[in-house]
Amino acid sequence: MQVNKSNQADDIFGSVKMGYLVIESKKLDEWRRFLKQGIGLHLESEHEAQLAFRMDSHERRLIIQEGGAEDVAAIGLQLRDQATFDLVLTRLTQRKISFEEGTSEEAEQRGVTSFVRVMGPKAVPLELFMDAKISSTPLNMLASGFVTGDSGWGHVAITSRLPEKMQRFWQEIFNARVSDHVSQKVGGAMLDVTFLRLNERHHSVAIAATRGVRLDPIRTKIQHFNMVANRLQDVSGAFERLRDLGFAMAHEIGQHPNDKEVSFYAISPSGFEVELGWDALKVDEATWTQAQYNAISTWGHKPENPSALSGLLVNLGNAGRGLRAAFKSEYSPL
Ligand SMILES: [Fe+2]
Repeated sequence: MQVNKSNQADDIFGSVKMGYLVIESKKLDEWRRFLKQGIGLHLESEHEAQLAFRMDSHERRLIIQEGGAEDVAAIGLQLRDQATFDLVLTRLTQRKISFEEGTSEEAEQRGVTSFVRVMGPKAVPLELFMDAKISSTPLNMLASGFVTGDSGWGHVAITSRLPEKMQRFWQEIFNARVSDHVSQKVGGAMLDVTFLRLNERHHSVAIAATRGVRLDPIRTKIQHFNMVANRLQDVSGAFERLRDLGFAMAHEIGQHPNDKEVSFYAISPSGFEVELGWDALKVDEATWTQAQYNAISTWGHKPENPSALSGLLVNLGNAGRGLRAAFKSEYSPL
């Protein structure tokens, strides 16, 4: 019984959530149009080298900083309390995974009081923080609101050549739980997607891998990130606005079988996809059972360009070039 108790005390499931996302891009004007006029977020601040957006009371949820990567530069993870923070750092230390304190200038840019940076799987910097700065300025958004709170701001989907290691990292460091699996044939290859939750949100991280020979055709560190709006009209409105602004859709509106989310995927100015959805289910831990699905969508999500491959990896504009990119080596901290 003692063992069980101590295991439970060390389980930080529910104490970790998506806090913010940092994107590096040279296309600040396009990102402003995409996120403010298209998705409908609140533009919190705008400088020559940085845009910052809010979707709730947090001063910063999405930060676009000037730079040539056209990729995600960091995922900010909010930890509930000092005990959680200490436990995560202990686990990293035990595995000889190094971490460093962010500078006060970097913390300021991210709207947090301080953070610790660790290089996560696939060389995605993960930034751990506790306290976000809160803004009292009323939100000026085209959307009615976004689902955050205990769920965090959304999720990321990552293609990986080392999916078992990536999953193990999220489980061993953050007590992530497997929600379910989807397998679907995409352009001749079988794609297996594992959905991991850190809290009540059905998934904060989805890991996609080709079965058999592991290929990673995606240029960027994430395949897409997702936000969940409060109302269906927020999703349909953003879809229309993004189209009117000239942004391409990777997938039109459809529904996923596992989290039941109704969503679309637009191609962001940096090339990776951005999913905006509504009505994503929250997991009831008492009754949840893992399922296996054989399609990523129940209906819809059809590619805007019908000549493109159907399925999750439709956005060939973000695909790597040739075999070298598909076989590129992948960093794992474990
Ligand atoms: Fe998604």
